[in-house]
Amino acid sequence: MMKIRLDRWLAALSVGSRTEVRELIRKGRVSADGKTVRDPALSFDTDSAVLQLDGKTLDGRLVRHVMLNKPAGLLTAARDRKQPTVMDLLPGEYAGIGCMPVGRLDKDTTGLLLLTCDGEMNHRLLAPGRHVDKVYRASVSGRLTEREVLAFAEGLELSDFRAKPAELRILTAGEESSEAEVTVTEGKFHQVKRMFSAIGHEVLTLRRLRFGPLTLDEALSEGQWRELTEGELRLLRQAAGMEEA
Ligand code: URA
Repeated sequence: MMKIRLDRWLAALSVGSRTEVRELIRKGRVSADGKTVRDPALSFDTDSAVLQLDGKTLDGRLVRHVMLNKPAGLLTAARDRKQPTVMDLLPGEYAGIGCMPVGRLDKDTTGLLLLTCDGEMNHRLLAPGRHVDKVYRASVSGRLTEREVLAFAEGLELSDFRAKPAELRILTAGEESSEAEVTVTEGKFHQVKRMFSAIGHEVLTLRRLRFGPLTLDEALSEGQWRELTEGELRLLRQAAGMEEA
């Protein structure tokens, strides 16, 4: 249960500034559980109270979790002064209630990106000790062979750290380029690109297919998103060590 003052609740939902929403409340345009509320300081339970503005029901949830199929060209950041970010794909209220990307995908990387308002879960999912695995589909220059599979399995020496053993599964191998699926348990900056680069292959495209227990919903085309189902959220909380399996 999460209780919050009515004016703070409406402002968090990006209905307006604190001053603006107080004005709406005083004018009698806001109701909770069917009754007009004129006192901005009254508190309500955001999980159960039905909030309406001008008779229209608002989605009052302050905690939401999103699965996004990230397109190339957007920064993974809560905000940026110059460049568009993944937050631009969501309605403004998601930023207003504090939804943040879980980790980072490079600007040119596509695929599964989770966003959540639950700061603790976010932090836990990324903690190095937790080893939440991520699966990527990579298209790389040159021919991949058993040599690369072994190098990934042993753990690669990069300039500033030794990457943990990772699984490389070759899907197609050609003279010019190859396709593979890579499973890593870390999330260091440019991790997958740097691992390939260390053994002489350039990553041409990179798409994340899985993050821990969650697989990218194939019904989402690039740029589309949806909220996590309750089942997905439970799996994610388990992966974060916040709920029993
Ligand atoms: N590894 C990378 O190199 N880039 C990403 O975006 C994700 C993993």
